[in-house]
Amino acid sequence: MFGRVKMPLKPAPGGHSPESRSGKSVLGPRPGEDAHRTAENTAPPPDKKKNKVIEEDKLEKYYELKTRIHRKLVEQLDFAAIDNDDPTIRDQVGDLILGLCDKENVLLNINERQKLVKEILDETFGLGPLELLLNDPNISDILINGPRSVFVERRGRLEQAEVQFRDNAHLIHLIDKIVSAVGRRCDEVCPMVDARLRDGSRVNAIIPPLAIDGPSVSIRRFGADPVAWDDYIAFKSCAPQMVEFFKACVISRLNILIIGGTGSGKTTLLNNMSSFIPAGDRIVTIEDAAELQLRQPHVVRLETRPANIEGKGQIAIRDLLINSLRMRPDRIVVGECRGAETLDMLQAMNTGHDGSLTTLHANSTRDSVQRVETMVMMSGFELPVRAIRQQFASAIDLIVQAQRLTGGARKITSVTEVSGMEGDVVTMQDIFSFEQIGIDGTGRAFGQIVATGIRPTFLDRLKHSGCEINPNLFERQVLLHDQED
Ligand SMILES: Nc1ncnc2c1ncn2[C@@H]1O[C@H](COP(=O)(O)OP(=O)(O)OP(=O)(O)O)[C@@H](O)[C@H]1O
Ligand SMILES: [Mg+2]
Repeated sequence: MFGRVKMPLKPAPGGHSPESRSGKSVLGPRPGEDAHRTAENTAPPPDKKKNKVIEEDKLEKYYELKTRIHRKLVEQLDFAAIDNDDPTIRDQVGDLILGLCDKENVLLNINERQKLVKEILDETFGLGPLELLLNDPNISDILINGPRSVFVERRGRLEQAEVQFRDNAHLIHLIDKIVSAVGRRCDEVCPMVDARLRDGSRVNAIIPPLAIDGPSVSIRRFGADPVAWDDYIAFKSCAPQMVEFFKACVISRLNILIIGGTGSGKTTLLNNMSSFIPAGDRIVTIEDAAELQLRQPHVVRLETRPANIEGKGQIAIRDLLINSLRMRPDRIVVGECRGAETLDMLQAMNTGHDGSLTTLHANSTRDSVQRVETMVMMSGFELPVRAIRQQFASAIDLIVQAQRLTGGARKITSVTEVSGMEGDVVTMQDIFSFEQIGIDGTGRAFGQIVATGIRPTFLDRLKHSGCEINPNLFERQVLLHDQED
């Protein structure tokens, strides 16, 4: 099965070295080691420093052992012949690693052996130390700032993870594994790259010399269990009535703009909004790194392409958007508008491609108009500000804002109708909004989601699409309390 396997799958138990017979674990310090270190230095280091050196030395020895065994495993296995779908494959290779471990003549206790086998298996079949984090469903972001500094976001809060990588080379090897799987590269010529994992998580990697303290990797997890509407309600991110309202808006082909800051939940919201697009519609999605996970049967997914080494061949969001207009789309979903494509998107929405959805980086609904103006002007279009605002006002029907509040909770903080223009100003009215009341004992912001008392002008449009919403919903009322439990 393994082709080049030179040793049997159940290897003979190894011998014992003098070191292991002496009962010293490979993870412990060598005899005389501390004395030697003390003699080297004129003044003994403070206890803390000494412990740190011992810890690092232990770790280094462990990494050496792991690398040695891993190297031997690679020599003995024909990876091309391995059937990754075989459910017993991990166990079989695990046995092989145990055999190699025995041959190393090191004394490891049962936990250490299990840890070693698991880590080598993760290295062989997955993404090494990252596997531990990727298997944790509570982690939403993994942020690696060099091999020894890893942070994760759990339930909206950043914390340091115990996971470490051996060195820069180890981390770069994993980056290479990730990006080569999507046909990209990350090296001196191309030191920053976007990619995605098999489960759809978005990855950005940037390596030295651009990243000064070692390779930096940022992973945005969506994972096998992305945040869905049920979770929005369970997490009190929005009120159940709002979900019904969004459904009606999407079915009725309103053009919806989702706004928010970095990591506020824009893409997650776009994904969930898109889930309401009727199954009969032909959807074209356009993204920088494909993150959307649509379940409808008729979806064409397009992804941009960076320039090649000679700086040629780049395909930007705008190119894909222009192309998509010739693909007979019923709905266009653009992951994020951040440049020249913004004007094209507004024009597409204004010229028959209604029911389209996109996101934009902006910190308030007002700010979103300004952001669009800036993006259009910076892209070199010589359009008067008023004309841009007019395009905006007639293209966008609804703006939904996502926000990451103090303490980490993510919420839909405003749902705003764009009703037109008055003079030079785009007129907008909040339909639902989040009112923050305070910060609770754990440092989290809390408050209430309210219907503002404003009735949207497009209610008739919803009705004509067969999505009647009870007008009482729009009377001034609190829809959801998010107080301390
Ligand atoms: N309502 C929510 N409750 C809890 N977690 C959420 C919620 N919405 C999004 N998340 C999580 O927050 C993280 C960030 O979400 P998302 O990627 O959608 O943000 P974004 O605004 O698109 O970020 P970026 O600006 O980096 O593109 C994800 O891991 C997602 O699963
Ligand atoms: Mg996003």
